Amino acid sequence: MDPQVFVIFGASGDLAKRKLLPAIYELYCSNLLPESFAVLGVSRTDYSDDAFRQEVFTDNEFIEDSKKQDFAQKLFYEPIDTLEAKDYPKVRQRLEKIDEQMGTSGNYVFYLSVPPRLYTEIPKYLAQEDLNKKEGSFRRLIIEKPFGYDMESAQSLNKSLQQHFDEDQIYRIDHYLGKETVQNLLVTRFANGIFEPLWNRNYIHHIEITSAEKIGVGDRGGYYDSSGALRDMVQNHLLQIVAHVAMEPPINADAGSIRSEKLKLFKALRPIAESEVEQYAIRGQYIGADIGGKHIKGYREEKGVGDDSMTETYVALKFFIDNWRWAGVPFYIRTGKHLPTKATEVVVYFKSPPHHLFRSNEEMMNMNNQLIMRIQPDEGLLLQFGMKVPGAGFNVKNVEMDFHYSDLTDAHVPEAYERLILDAMKGDATLYARGDSVEEAWRFVDPILNAWKNNPDIKLYGYPAGTWGPDVADNLIEGDRVSWRNPCRNLTDSRN
Ligand code: BG6
Repeated sequence: MDPQVFVIFGASGDLAKRKLLPAIYELYCSNLLPESFAVLGVSRTDYSDDAFRQEVFTDNEFIEDSKKQDFAQKLFYEPIDTLEAKDYPKVRQRLEKIDEQMGTSGNYVFYLSVPPRLYTEIPKYLAQEDLNKKEGSFRRLIIEKPFGYDMESAQSLNKSLQQHFDEDQIYRIDHYLGKETVQNLLVTRFANGIFEPLWNRNYIHHIEITSAEKIGVGDRGGYYDSSGALRDMVQNHLLQIVAHVAMEPPINADAGSIRSEKLKLFKALRPIAESEVEQYAIRGQYIGADIGGKHIKGYREEKGVGDDSMTETYVALKFFIDNWRWAGVPFYIRTGKHLPTKATEVVVYFKSPPHHLFRSNEEMMNMNNQLIMRIQPDEGLLLQFGMKVPGAGFNVKNVEMDFHYSDLTDAHVPEAYERLILDAMKGDATLYARGDSVEEAWRFVDPILNAWKNNPDIKLYGYPAGTWGPDVADNLIEGDRVSWRNPCRNLTDSRN
């Protein structure tokens, strides 16, 4: 890999400390970093290089003693006020110095781990210092989510970034794309002869995607209250999963081909009309509850949240994809905070056989083959199918074939950030969102946001913390003896 400096704006923040620096350290331990490599932390906090190094090591169990010294030598820090144009020459001069000292050849990856209002400012100031482009070197820009607030703001952010950086220099991060299991959706579909022929409206009854979180908003109330579950999880993470489940096979496994197929898929998402939002986009908000003798606060009691907040902490959608493969197949997606467990999974629910031969058998009548792709935790794949119970007659029982990633004992499953940072350093944008598809994803989400904004009468359902969300969300999918599959059915939820 080419020599380079990885520049983190917001280096004294939580994300840098919890995710980015541990990921870079892991890459270092796996010998995946180039020989000539440095990290430059940039933030307002007034650290020296040494204080920054110290800060990185404090509380970070990830740093092993023996490796500390070596790794620390690669860390540098420059305090600036990121909103002040006059501070940026300091960044340029520091980078030139690091190039001399570390042999990093003027190749820079800038990671913006900063509040969204700085997404337009920092690139502008980098360009003022000619740090955005240089003949013979590479310059890349990684942007954290949220990428925009709605379609219009995403378009204007794209426009503003593209004034200073070309699209192929811009890496929009969606950490779900860094998850092995999300990438494996493509391999499951396109590397196996048995699944792909069935992967269409002829054999699939519906598809469900659940991303449940056990925790509430914690100390992120201030951010979350202006976001909500639809912006925070659906517009990005869940729609990316939908794309992996539903896109057409790309002609190649390269960034351009995969990202173009995703764009086509996003264009085929049928937006939920504003008049149908109440019916097909169920929103909920957790309310306080006592769980195991402990009181869990309701959302409106969280720090940074107004006591009349209408922000959704849960959302469940039913929608369709208007293309040849998926015509008429409903997609159901839901996500929420303070649900009974932390789990993300995709359920492909196949149609019943055309004729029930074993009619008398109640279990068989209720059974459909399901392929469950567990994104997290207990990553793996589970296939449910019917089997004859040994003995007289034709009694059919539902059984499971279950693969767990943990069975691959020698496989190191990289953290999402580890994989994504490595890819950006190599210049591979396959697992990053492209500007056009981010805008398309907003096109799908916007009418729901508008309906909620314009129609305060659309119900926001309260659900007690620790349950599977508003009961009414069950109606989205219920009918014909079908209901949501709740991960970890042994949990104490009466509706499991
Ligand atoms: C983030 C959201 O993007 O993803 C958080 O802002 C959410 O609200 C998190 O908790 C979930 O990520 P993961 O990897 O823990 O499922």
